[in-house]
Amino acid sequence: MDAAPLSLNMATTTTKSKAVAAELHDWPLMKNNIAREDLDAVIKFLQQDDPILTQSKNVAVFEEEWSQWLGVKHSVFVNSGSSANQITMAAIRERFGGGEIIVPTLTWISDIASVLQNGFDPAFVDINPRTLGMDTKQVVKKISKKTRAVFLTHILGYNALDDYLLAELKQRNIPLVEDVCESHGATFRGRKLGAFGFASNFSFYYAHHMSTIEGGMVCTDDPDFYEMLRMFRSHGMVRESKSDALKNRYKSEWPDLNPDFIFAFPAYNVRSTEINAVIGRSQLKRLDERNQARTRNLNLFLNNLDSKKFFTEFEREGSCNYAFTLVLREPDQALWNRIEKALRKHGIEFRRGTSGGGNQLRQPFMRKRMPDEYKKYPKVDHVHFFGAYIGNYPELEPEKIPALCRLLNSL
Ligand SMILES: Cc1ncc(COP(=O)(O)O)c(C=O)c1O
Repeated sequence: MDAAPLSLNMATTTTKSKAVAAELHDWPLMKNNIAREDLDAVIKFLQQDDPILTQSKNVAVFEEEWSQWLGVKHSVFVNSGSSANQITMAAIRERFGGGEIIVPTLTWISDIASVLQNGFDPAFVDINPRTLGMDTKQVVKKISKKTRAVFLTHILGYNALDDYLLAELKQRNIPLVEDVCESHGATFRGRKLGAFGFASNFSFYYAHHMSTIEGGMVCTDDPDFYEMLRMFRSHGMVRESKSDALKNRYKSEWPDLNPDFIFAFPAYNVRSTEINAVIGRSQLKRLDERNQARTRNLNLFLNNLDSKKFFTEFEREGSCNYAFTLVLREPDQALWNRIEKALRKHGIEFRRGTSGGGNQLRQPFMRKRMPDEYKKYPKVDHVHFFGAYIGNYPELEPEKIPALCRLLNSL
């Protein structure tokens, strides 16, 4: 433990806090996530005569490279992680029909929104404080005849899977959808998260492990689901499919239609562009190396925090975090207020509630639908009020991390 001594005299305290202040300036949630070499790759691409800018070869190659990196058969590049959520739930609805989707109370809004917008009923589950993901025993308890999928989120780089959940879902034939938007490169039993589910979603928003400015990916091993996702990405158009058999089937079933304009589903346009794919391809080359720095940083952070004040027993095995998770061990509003004040004073950006601001059931869009449901989930409520995340990026000066811990431990 590296806590600041509490018995300093006034003069030493002032000197010490000035030193801390000097060490702890300019700490945003994310920094340098799009580098000079990514911009140079875009410039080189744009210097061609008449380059195709809309979705074309670079998107296709980025999808291929991403699938290889992740260890899945198919990937579909879209314009955001929310779009990945949206077309995944739309395709799940098309494939498995309506009913319930089991979702976390701690996640990003687009996970719940995509469930609601596709006409499903969300069934909520509290968190496991060690993973911040869903409590897997509660997930299994919530499974019913109405369950169409489990839509799990790996929160801020922590793996939310376990053998029990995977075995139960397999035995009951319930598809798993993994939201990996906050956990690129994290693993379970040595295999990358996002390679376990029937489908998985990634985000390449600037604040995440890697960025295409905005962007997202849906991944799957299922060939039919893949074709469906390609169509959902682009107006529901059958010609977006890569399967000749599928295209011919539609052509012969709908002979009065121009084969170029057969719309199978009332879908969306959530395509991205060649420019975003060029950035993604450039970024992917150094993702693993950058993630190693993040893991080193997280260990430094959690090892230096005072475990009497802060919860430090996060499941770190296989984790890969772009943010430090700061959670009080016990509810303590006065301490929390001191923490927020100190972080603001030292220019350290943070987000209270961790992923998505905490308990999604407390949000206005859910209170209208399920007014009292939020009261049933005490564990997520603790993180909602007494948890936050702080930026963890590879360029973060390592000496700042113990300095931050000294500050937090002294409050
Ligand atoms: C878990 C999770 N899912 C989905 C999203 C949506 O991704 P995007 O911001 O790219 O739309 C986010 C965004 O931060 C997220 O954290």
